[in-house]
Amino acid sequence: MFYGRNQELKIIYDWIFLQKARLISVLGLSGIGKTTLVKRFVDLNSKSFDVLMWKSLRFPQRLNLLLTEIFNNFSPGNDSVSLSEETWRKFFDILRQNKCLIIFDDVHNIFTEKQFAGQYQSEYRDYKTFLKMMTEIEHQSCLILISQEKSQEMKSLNEELYPIKVLELTGLYETELLNNQSLENPESWSTLIKLYEGNPLYLENIADLIQDVFQGDVLSFVEQDELILTEDLKEIFNSLFDKLSKVEQKIIVEMTQQDQEFSIETLKEHLSLSSTDLINGLQSLSRRYILQITPQNKKMFRLSPVFQEYFKQGNNFHQ
Ligand SMILES: Nc1ncnc2c1ncn2[C@@H]1O[C@H](COP(=O)(O)OP(=O)(O)OP(=O)(O)O)[C@@H](O)[C@H]1O
Ligand SMILES: [Mg+2]
Repeated sequence: MFYGRNQELKIIYDWIFLQKARLISVLGLSGIGKTTLVKRFVDLNSKSFDVLMWKSLRFPQRLNLLLTEIFNNFSPGNDSVSLSEETWRKFFDILRQNKCLIIFDDVHNIFTEKQFAGQYQSEYRDYKTFLKMMTEIEHQSCLILISQEKSQEMKSLNEELYPIKVLELTGLYETELLNNQSLENPESWSTLIKLYEGNPLYLENIADLIQDVFQGDVLSFVEQDELILTEDLKEIFNSLFDKLSKVEQKIIVEMTQQDQEFSIETLKEHLSLSSTDLINGLQSLSRRYILQITPQNKKMFRLSPVFQEYFKQGNNFHQ
């Protein structure tokens, strides 16, 4: 089942078919619906492409092996190709002669853990050059990157015909999401969705819990007035926290201990970090979609309430 996201589908469509974007990044937290959205786009539009390639980088591979796989789709029999001028010429000839849609999912796995967001692991540094070439060289194809982390190459400018686009997914506030979850009290569903920030994965998890413990009674669950975290959700946050750099962990710990919104100035007062570290740390956290700018006051930051709750319950600090 796929619900909502009509606007996002239209945006991707316009970028590819009207604005001829060559590199699109679909970014956001784990479980927010990135893979599902791009799959839906592919299902709806597959006929408009000559070639479709979906490659998961959950277990990333070196770029030359990935290119070899791509070549073998066209003419089988290539052993591992090298990243030579000849290979690139052949590759971009393919992208010029055919309208290809290439998708790399789970791109965050090529980035280094325990450093600021979007830093390439040394064996995957070729990808950085590759992404630049995708946008600088003329062709009629498009590469969609799906990632939980934003890198320097995934940037957007307002210019309409700029070939690089970024779609940052936020929560999905559609009550239909809960339709097939055997839940009762539909009038409370939107409260539940708000509580879990419209993250479909969190909601699937919580729906299971409500079925098991509350016999599907959503009203009783939301009346508890408490954000409950399942073991699965804690696991997601544990691994997210473990991936952060020390600077980011320090900022997060400070933000959760005070349980409020923060400005750069207050964080500076509370933390023994240089201004450079603090500001780079904040940028990195926002490139992972953990940090949010408060809608009321654009100078203040806050953490996602679900993530904050995870810390309040003392699930952190096993660093
Ligand atoms: N628009 C949608 N309609 C219905 N279900 C959705 C929608 N978006 C996401 N989901 C459901 O939410 C779950 C998480 O979605 P998905 O796997 O796409 O997230 P993701 O952003 O790719 O996460 P990750 O970064 O961990 O890969 C899936 O089980 C999916 O079925
Ligand atoms: Mg995914």
